[in-house]
Amino acid sequence: MSKKRVLSGIQPTHDSFHLGNYLGALKQWVELQHDHDAFYCVVDLHALTIETDPKVLQKRILLSAAQLIAIGVDPSKCTLFIQSHVPAHNQLAWVLECITGFGEAGRMTQFKDKSQKGGTDRTNVGLFTYPILQAADILLYQADFVPVGEDQRQHIELTRDLGQRFNSKFNEIFNIPQPQIIKSLAKINDLQDPTAKMSKSASSMAGVIELLDSPEVTLKKFKSSVTDDGKEVKFDEKSKPGISNLLTIHSALSGKSIQDLEGEFSGKGYGDFKAAVAEVVISKLEPIGKRTKELMDDQGELIRILNKGAARANEVATATLKAVYSAIGLV
Ligand code: AMP
Ligand code: TRP
Repeated sequence: MSKKRVLSGIQPTHDSFHLGNYLGALKQWVELQHDHDAFYCVVDLHALTIETDPKVLQKRILLSAAQLIAIGVDPSKCTLFIQSHVPAHNQLAWVLECITGFGEAGRMTQFKDKSQKGGTDRTNVGLFTYPILQAADILLYQADFVPVGEDQRQHIELTRDLGQRFNSKFNEIFNIPQPQIIKSLAKINDLQDPTAKMSKSASSMAGVIELLDSPEVTLKKFKSSVTDDGKEVKFDEKSKPGISNLLTIHSALSGKSIQDLEGEFSGKGYGDFKAAVAEVVISKLEPIGKRTKELMDDQGELIRILNKGAARANEVATATLKAVYSAIGLV
């Protein structure tokens, strides 16, 4: 039986990914590449919806690819590429835009949130068509599964609707993908505000653990993390959101169960526990930081890897696009 195909993408909107990205999504990418035909892309075109200095953007695209490799996305096991290296993404997106209703696109909650925050003058049309480009990313590769966080569920639903609509209007060209919402570790919270999701849009970075933070910075962020009343290390999201978040992080990285961790730290104070969580995190992140730096110092090698990924991605994507163009009557 041939392997199931997965596709996922991540935006290069920051210098460093954070622990929420890693535990919520990227760790799963690494696991899936072993028994799936995996396509992973750095979605640089999506990142254009946020105005960024060109030099900064360029660095972030390379840093994103380097970090993916550093966390274990293995270019010899999967297809790792940069979205803009495959022109078929834009080409299919246009075709899909022409079968998407204006109201349908307007109902996307992420667009509604972002455009409400920014106001119409600061909202570009790219933000409006963003989910349709995402649908093109997925449908081009005939993906079976799309591993993403819960926040992307609606975009995957739209992808399915557009794929089905195209298939019934024209020809059965697209495989209709399933979302693979990452459940067990779906949410890592901010260390300073443990009732809110860890996010780069947080008002302060003090509670956001970046993969490329130095060990000193990581230790400091854990030491000053917000804990809760009482002094017991117990998992209880309602009354102990801080400690529960730290337990989730430790468990996700060490592989120990929450229950075992509660036992291990019973009778010890919050201080010891925080130091232990920091140690687990640092021992995971330090090699990631080193490997990322090596790749950034040898960009020739990095670009060679990405060119190889793009060649493979282009093969698959071009074949799908050709079938689409033919089905809709382009000559
Ligand atoms: P973003 O950087 O918000 O675009 O997220 C990239 C990926 O990481 C998406 O699949 C998100 O669902 C996931 N993600 C982002 N923040 C978190 C978090 N705090 N906990 C778990 N997953 C997250
Ligand atoms: N919108 C996704 C996010 O913000 C990123 C993305 C773009 C994506 N294209 C994709 C994710 C295709 C999965 C598949 O996380």
